[in-house]
Amino acid sequence: MQPDGEPGVRINPSILAADFVNMQAELARIDAADFVHVDVMDNHFVPNLTFGPQMVERIQATSPVPLDVHLMIDDPERWAPGYAELGAASVTFHVEASADPVALARRLRAIGARAGVAVKPGTPVEPLFEHLDEFDQVLVMTVEPGFGGQSFMPETMPKLSALAAEARRRGSAVWLQVDGGISAETIAQAAEAGADTFVAGSAVFGADDPDAAITALRALAAHRHAPR
Ligand code: DX5
Ligand code: ZN
Repeated sequence: MQPDGEPGVRINPSILAADFVNMQAELARIDAADFVHVDVMDNHFVPNLTFGPQMVERIQATSPVPLDVHLMIDDPERWAPGYAELGAASVTFHVEASADPVALARRLRAIGARAGVAVKPGTPVEPLFEHLDEFDQVLVMTVEPGFGGQSFMPETMPKLSALAAEARRRGSAVWLQVDGGISAETIAQAAEAGADTFVAGSAVFGADDPDAAITALRALAAHRHAPR
């Protein structure tokens, strides 16, 4: 694993594509990852349903790498701090679901987690610009949230370029994450647009050797990524 904060790119496999009843063994297959991406879905904010804090607490206790929790849930004000309290290194909630994203990010940071904010493909990023320093990560969804195995949406790339330009202008260290349809075929264009943190579900857990897939994705992304 690359140490936290080291310049470069991060590959965060999504356990949505893992075998849920063999989670401990699945986690052991991705120890070359930077973080494990944990998709929490509530069947309200998105049509799908995964798991909640009890399961994430066990993943936290078992995982060889830190947790990157992605909350696709309504009312993150009520639930997000609990994930930070159970020890997740990073907690990302959706701006569309939050009553006050800046206040919630401050609460997450106060607990000791990295605070992330996510935007769906149709949500503009400009309103986040003036608050960029309040977040440790912005997640630009590259598919509609809810399901793994969907096709990457290249039309989301201008949002990433705009965020990268704004981050550069401000000298911000914010991480720019992409999630959905990231594979050996698509990762280079996301890196070129400014992403530095890559979620990959099927491309990692669908591979015969997940650690080799992680290493290959990291090399493809690093090749195209221009450090800020
Ligand atoms: C989708 C989830 C993603 C998903 C990505 O709503 O947020 O994290 O697991 O899966 P792939 O990489 O298969 O598109
Ligand atoms: Zn996700």
